[in-house]
Amino acid sequence: MVNMTLHLLTPPFFQLVPLVLLAFIVLRTLLKAIPSSRKAAVAASPPGNTGLPLIGETLAFLAAYNSSRGVYDFVRIRHLRYGRCFKTSILGCTHVFVSSTEVAKTLLGSESPDFTKRYIRSIAELLGHQSLLCSSHEQHKFIRRHISSTFKLEAMDSTIKKFDELVVDTLRSWEKMEQILVLRDALKVTFNAICKMLISIEDEHELEILRNDIFEVSEAMLAFPLKLPGTRFYRALKARERIMNRLRKMIDLRKRELECHEDFLQDLLKKDESCNNDSLTDEQIMDNILTLIIAGQVTTASSIAWMVKYLDENQEILEKLRALYLELPCKDSASPFGFEVLNLMPYAIKIVKESLRMASIVSWFPRVALKDCEIEGFKIRKGWIVNVNARSVHYDPMAYDEPFKFNPSRFDEDSKPYSFMAFGIGGRICMGMNLAKAMMLVFLHRLITTYRYKVIEADTSLQKGAMFPMLRNGCPIAVTPVTKEPN
Ligand code: HEM
Repeated sequence: MVNMTLHLLTPPFFQLVPLVLLAFIVLRTLLKAIPSSRKAAVAASPPGNTGLPLIGETLAFLAAYNSSRGVYDFVRIRHLRYGRCFKTSILGCTHVFVSSTEVAKTLLGSESPDFTKRYIRSIAELLGHQSLLCSSHEQHKFIRRHISSTFKLEAMDSTIKKFDELVVDTLRSWEKMEQILVLRDALKVTFNAICKMLISIEDEHELEILRNDIFEVSEAMLAFPLKLPGTRFYRALKARERIMNRLRKMIDLRKRELECHEDFLQDLLKKDESCNNDSLTDEQIMDNILTLIIAGQVTTASSIAWMVKYLDENQEILEKLRALYLELPCKDSASPFGFEVLNLMPYAIKIVKESLRMASIVSWFPRVALKDCEIEGFKIRKGWIVNVNARSVHYDPMAYDEPFKFNPSRFDEDSKPYSFMAFGIGGRICMGMNLAKAMMLVFLHRLITTYRYKVIEADTSLQKGAMFPMLRNGCPIAVTPVTKEPN
């Protein structure tokens, strides 16, 4: 031992000291150069700030939700700060946001058994615990099977025809108007068409009452779940109660055979009679009618408004589309569009797809971890909510060349697998995907072949307190009929 110590003090060791120091400095510099996300991989937990105990970053989340930059701004800022995988804490839950096609494939595409879908509690309380959007794996399979069998092609065909009639009527009313709010009218026509398909309501007064209640509910989806009179959440719960009472009365009338319609509700009730314990309960039917209206109306109407705006900003694309439309045989309102609109014009479909990519209406998809696991090299604890950040994948230059440019022709070629997520992926893919696309195509066709239009105010601020990115100014436009060319 003494010999060894002496050996360390001999001249060759002293010669090594500068080398060891140099190696130490190089290593430290290299470690500093590693991006923070990799360092966190070593630390095993995703980078990010979980804020104060219990409150976490809830206040920052709600501030973004109530601002005209929109709730996604909360995610965007942290994505820039921490990289493509980060964690935060909202309303008492740890949330991880991850932007990667590989994770999208694992979590959504192959329906990993380690994860299940779960929205924050306030959403489940408003939509109902039997809602398809909030239900557990097994319950989801059961409900989706029932709903998709009634969500059939013929029903959707007549919904698209109804939607077309409504659009033609609405566009007719625009002729004498100086300014039109595209979002407002799109919300109305999508709502009316979906309500007709689901529950056959057509009376304007009844529709308006329901529309106001649905609006209260969807406005509060991400609000702080405070059940005190006067709060947004409380008002939404009251609106939900009124909607449920209305639906309960409808079910009762139909069960007593005092009313009968050809619609989604009747289909589900028919099944109820025939296959007893394999059928949906009244609660399941009611929660899911509310879910379908909320999932379908604002998303589709908002996408329509963004599409109108993007086209206005890209006049050459708009003119190319108009020329292609005018080559098609004229479609009059006496024979409305049905499902064939989906195959009518490939260029219009690419415009719809590109608008959906850029608008990324559903910006992230939440899934809860059922056990401890790893994602992107980071440890994920059981109970954490992992959100696939679809919007950031849609704007990733590795997936889309010049992602901020509106370029429908990018879809001439297939996009990178799992990089287009406007309607989600896998077993939870949007049930109304084809209906939504068809409604966007019908609106586009009718608008472009009836009018030339100009967006009056190019503001891109978003509506405060909205679950989905909606233009705050409602996309105001002025129109001139296509036959009367502007001076
Ligand atoms: C442009 C319009 C629409 C967009 C962008 C959209 C987007 C989405 C997305 C991204 C999901 C999956 C969410 C996830 O995996 O977490 C979804 C699910 C869903 N959508 Fe849509 N949607 C639209 C229109 C519609 C319409 C018109 C309906 C029906 C009337 C509808 C009904 C549903 C339902 C029921 C689900 C839940 C499916 C399930 O969990 O199994 N959506 N939608």
